[in-house]
Amino acid sequence: MADAPSDYLGSLKLLHALGDFFVINISSPNTPGLRELAQPDDLRRLLSALQEFNRSTPDPKPLLLKISPDTEDRYFPDIVSITREFNLAGIVATNTTSQRSPEDPRENGGLSGRPLTQRALAVTRLIRPLLAKDQILISVGGVMNPGHYQARRQTGADLIQMYTGLVYLGPTAAWDILGRS
Ligand SMILES: Cc1cc2nc3c(=O)[nH]c(=O)nc-3n(C[C@H](O)[C@H](O)[C@H](O)COP(=O)(O)O)c2cc1C
Repeated sequence: MADAPSDYLGSLKLLHALGDFFVINISSPNTPGLRELAQPDDLRRLLSALQEFNRSTPDPKPLLLKISPDTEDRYFPDIVSITREFNLAGIVATNTTSQRSPEDPRENGGLSGRPLTQRALAVTRLIRPLLAKDQILISVGGVMNPGHYQARRQTGADLIQMYTGLVYLGPTAAWDILGRS
């Protein structure tokens, strides 16, 4: 993980001209050690390297941080405060979970979709008041129906992302969720 800042920086340099914004993913459970990057010192080193490069470009892009639903609630204030320190545009909450309830499949890897709905909503609710006024919150995780979408809006998510829902609802998912025909 000591190489993480230069590794992420290499990717950002390659892609910078191509993206409108970038989400820094430190929360996939499928890459060993990745989530350790949420430790304050590691996170500062990472965000500092990425933002320094970003700001040196003629066209700096919004950078957001994607967080894990498995992070203990007491760590969120520090994590969000560090994103403010480095002027990140916001937070994406959340990635997949490593947690399993008794009815979930006993498989390795991150779990997405319905088992994540309540936790992703809870993290969205926790993060909102921690953000600066000009930071945005993208809520993702287990949004599978219009009720889930409404709940995210009510907790103050600026944007809502769906991934697994697309598998179950198909290509009209966004229209169905928004209640449009
Ligand atoms: C097969 C699969 C691959 C994913 N790959 C990534 C990834 O490369 N980077 C990332 O930040 N999140 C990744 N995610 C996480 C999703 O973007 C999303 O945060 C998560 O699945 C929760 O949303 P959902 O319940 O709507 O699927 C992946 C999820 C799945 C299921």
